[in-house]
Amino acid sequence: MDISTRQDIEKVVYHFYDNIMQDPDLGPIFLDVMKTDWNKHLPIMCDFWETILLGRQAYVRDTMGAHFNVNRKVPMLDHHFTRWIELFEASLDLHFSGDVTENAKKRARTIAEVMRVKMFQENSDRPM
Ligand code: HEM
Repeated sequence: MDISTRQDIEKVVYHFYDNIMQDPDLGPIFLDVMKTDWNKHLPIMCDFWETILLGRQAYVRDTMGAHFNVNRKVPMLDHHFTRWIELFEASLDLHFSGDVTENAKKRARTIAEVMRVKMFQENSDRPM
């Protein structure tokens, strides 16, 4: 079954962040460094993916800006992105398959790669 509704996206997003929280590398960035308010963050993530995958204009925010804020507190490095993608794809594959699911993987990889390079540049420019 492929992703086709907001409820489908919620399933993926909630499962993904359950795993993120328990991940030794990524969990502390949310729990300890950013002290993420999950009641706010999870609906924002569902809006984000609904906009990308289902074409509803629900997300109008500054994704890169949010991550520059993270990156200034804890440098976001290659291994963080590799793990993020691994967990995201596992959450997708657990519940869904098809064109929209594959598009989610493709878009996540593209955004992660752009983000990785931007954070790398910022970290290289920053005086030690
Ligand atoms: C190294 C990998 C990543 C880490 C550690 C990370 C971490 C974070 C953190 C800490 C937040 C802020 C949560 C809060 O409000 O407290 C956030 C927000 C967000 N992340 Fe990531 N992220 C990563 C990769 C990605 C990727 C690859 C995407 C997209 C495909 C993404 C999409 C978003 C979005 C849409 C938000 C919401 C920003 C807003 O407030 O509008 N993240 N992320």
